[in-house]
Amino acid sequence: MLIKQTLLKATKAAGAVLKENFDKAFIISNKSSINDLVTEVDHKSEKVIIDIIKADFPDHFILSEEVGEIAKESSYKWIIDPIDGTINYANGIPICCVSIGVEIEGKMQMGAVYNPFMNEFFFAQKGMGATLNDKPIQVSIKDKVSTSCLVTGFPYTYLDMPNGPLQVFERLIRKGIPVRRLGSAAIDLCWVACGRFDGFYEHKLQAWDSAAGYLIVEEAGGKVTDLSGAPYNPYQPGIIATNGKIHNELKGVINNEIKL
Ligand code: IPD
Ligand code: CA
Ligand code: CA
Ligand code: CA
Repeated sequence: MLIKQTLLKATKAAGAVLKENFDKAFIISNKSSINDLVTEVDHKSEKVIIDIIKADFPDHFILSEEVGEIAKESSYKWIIDPIDGTINYANGIPICCVSIGVEIEGKMQMGAVYNPFMNEFFFAQKGMGATLNDKPIQVSIKDKVSTSCLVTGFPYTYLDMPNGPLQVFERLIRKGIPVRRLGSAAIDLCWVACGRFDGFYEHKLQAWDSAAGYLIVEEAGGKVTDLSGAPYNPYQPGIIATNGKIHNELKGVINNEIKL
């Protein structure tokens, strides 16, 4: 069985679960805080994905947001976000997706992000480019932060750190730069990859939020680093993902080293 086939099958099947249940009543619970939600559909989507992976690759390592680790001695690791954008989903806002990345020997090799509400399936394989519904995609060509369209997200806590999410947001907004907040980091990344946004940054993500999306940005010709500009590692919190051309300037603005 090819990894790619299983990845596509699992992502599509889970996307169908999101779509089928969207208009139905489902249970919503909270996790670390009253607004950190998980729905019954997150669990359903996660089960569908894990069952498909386990059927094809019973010995692979799985890391998934709601169940945590299914640890195996394996050089293959599946990193799963069964719904990215749960708050949107719970509120009937159709900006959410399924995101799955596949790491082999510690390197991200494949990623798939599927938003079934817009019928948009993003895919990338290391060294082979990125696609949206099977057509190649590329990042935008804008080269200045001042004319860019950006996107970000905010954590539930951790807002009071010096030079944190609120300060960076204020700096950009005060200069009139459009900074959107969609509520799904995986979609944010894919929309950088296909050129709708010129850059995305966020201070506190988990590996499952970015695993697939960061590879999709890189394979679409973009650049992804941590907040200091060092090579990206999805197991640390901060991210800057851009078209490459605005990367250094955006990094400088985020770190308050460049004034707009
Ligand atoms: C969240 C989304 C959101 C980001 C949060 C994540 P979830 O993931 O990606 O855009 O700002 O930090 O937790 O909980 O909806 O899978
Ligand atoms: Ca997520
Ligand atoms: Ca999630
Ligand atoms: Ca969550």
